[in-house]
Amino acid sequence: MGIDDLKTDAQMLRKGIEEELKAATLYENLAGKAKSSDVKKLFLDIAKEEKVHIGEFETLLEKLDPEYEEAEKEGEGEVKKLLGNKAVSESSILTSIANVIQDEYETTLLW
Ligand SMILES: [Fe+2]
Repeated sequence: MGIDDLKTDAQMLRKGIEEELKAATLYENLAGKAKSSDVKKLFLDIAKEEKVHIGEFETLLEKLDPEYEEAEKEGEGEVKKLLGNKAVSESSILTSIANVIQDEYETTLLW
């Protein structure tokens, strides 16, 4: 599926989120491999900026797609029920979110 296949603003925002998640994951992985502490710091800072971009896309997506915010809260409740107060690392959460959004995005495009 290419950009031309995206028909609605909500679909474009979801694609934006997907790409920002990939970028954040990439920068975190690069930071983990960087030998220079300055390079590591830069990659981590950029990864953080990508997460802000995700938040910007999500803010508008919640307005355009009311089911999104509802599903987000439902998912949050399910995770809390499943894990309770167990600590989960940020990178594993990010990876899980990226995988879920990728799956959901592909499913959405199919319908
Ligand atoms: Fe970005």
